[in-house]
Amino acid sequence: MLGRIKPLDAILATAERKSLHRSLGAFQLTMMGIGGIIGTGIFVLSAVAASKAGPAMMISFVICAVVCGLAALAYSELAAMLPVSGSAYTFSYATFGELAAWTVGWALVLEYAIAASTVSVGWAGYFVKLMEQFHIFLPARLIEGPYIDLRRIAGPLMRWGVGIPREFLEAKPTAGVVNLPAVVIALACTALLIRGTKESARFTSFLVIIKVVALFVFIAFAYAVFDAARFDPPLPNGVSGFMPTGFFGSGMGVSAAAASIFFAFVGFDAVSTAAEETENPNRNIPIGLIGSLAICTVLYLVIAAGAIGAVGADPAGGFAQAKDPLAYVMQTIGHPAVALAIRLAAGLALPSVILMMIYGQTRIFFVMARDGLLPPAFARVHPRFHTPHVVTAVTGVFCALFAGIFPVDQLADFSNSGTLFAFVAVALGVMVLRISAPGRHRPFRTPAVWVVAPLAVFGCGYLFVSLSGLTKVAFLAWQVLGFFVYFGYSRSRSHVGRGHVEVHELDADAPHLPVSRL
Ligand code: ALA
Repeated sequence: MLGRIKPLDAILATAERKSLHRSLGAFQLTMMGIGGIIGTGIFVLSAVAASKAGPAMMISFVICAVVCGLAALAYSELAAMLPVSGSAYTFSYATFGELAAWTVGWALVLEYAIAASTVSVGWAGYFVKLMEQFHIFLPARLIEGPYIDLRRIAGPLMRWGVGIPREFLEAKPTAGVVNLPAVVIALACTALLIRGTKESARFTSFLVIIKVVALFVFIAFAYAVFDAARFDPPLPNGVSGFMPTGFFGSGMGVSAAAASIFFAFVGFDAVSTAAEETENPNRNIPIGLIGSLAICTVLYLVIAAGAIGAVGADPAGGFAQAKDPLAYVMQTIGHPAVALAIRLAAGLALPSVILMMIYGQTRIFFVMARDGLLPPAFARVHPRFHTPHVVTAVTGVFCALFAGIFPVDQLADFSNSGTLFAFVAVALGVMVLRISAPGRHRPFRTPAVWVVAPLAVFGCGYLFVSLSGLTKVAFLAWQVLGFFVYFGYSRSRSHVGRGHVEVHELDADAPHLPVSRL
């Protein structure tokens, strides 16, 4: 397994060719982090967390913040040491070898492409309600994916110890055929990326401000009707997850809610990948990472408490079942105009998260294709637009397909399984490289690495275990499919396997970032 390791020197030589321009300070990094983090998680999945944990979802937010903080510190050391495209995939290639790198790259498809599908479906929920507010009612068939009757296969799966989330077992058939708004927004973002849109930094900042202002407006109105009695009962579905029912877990309780709401915290990698552009990285990266995570955590906790205090978080109640929960709260407490403003803000700001996610995915496929593990067409760049049009189109169609079929909570969990897997690889990688390459220059060093990295592995493992059984089976199935592709196609074509170790003029042939950083 360790036979095909990409030499660290080749990766570093690539990185060194890039002229470093260190300009980012702690404040910009923190703002970038907040811009990347806030999205469908708080706008949509807060309802999913309530449906799993009730008011105790507050604890789930704290658990995720701690795990993400630990993982982020480990991530930053590798991002600063190896400032090259491909993130966890490239780190794994240098540390654990090709097969592990492939597995991580394949899991990153979930982190990025499925996250794009998740945000598309989250956006669609707000869009449909926005239309309804203007008395435009889209047909039920076109706003929801097809109903898949899992009860037929639930019996045998449960006998094998696979936990099936309760909502699946109790789900009633819906009239859904396809979630058309979600498909359309995913394809629209894809088209923009192929065209090579360059959002101005100012526009990106404007969207971040819109998101944050909408959240503050929500807080102001929710706390006006706050009633602590609505926190009762605080723990309707227990903790679970620590002790999964059967190996595969039930997908209910505080731990399961944490495993889902983890999605709300993903996105801080924007900070770690900017490591090579950061002045005084050893000081500014932890400030940017921990700062943006801390600010988002406080904001999330205040919002979650405000929503619970305003309308309650009964797992079977209106908030927990809402597709646009923050707007739902405003509507329920008698502020339709504020609900409208929040729907507009989500409608405007969430597509920027979709763009970032699809872009991130194309970048990883691009690097894997350049290593020979994926077809060379994936690394082709459009002569006029200078964007990797083939891989972007393939990614976009894949995202749209998943967005059209599956509900937001299933997609978020599936995406989280891949992200958690990649985080574990990175946390292990930091430790391995401290031993195998102790003398390398590290612009940022994870503080107390022998405590932080093992805790990150443990925390991510715990969240992974807390995902529903169905999600874990889906993750395993995805990896099995990946092995077929690797052994059927990639292994024999791998450049490292054939003995070519290329040093790329980093990004001279790669497309530039279409969405500018803050
Ligand atoms: N954290 C990002 C979101 O919630 C991915 O949309």
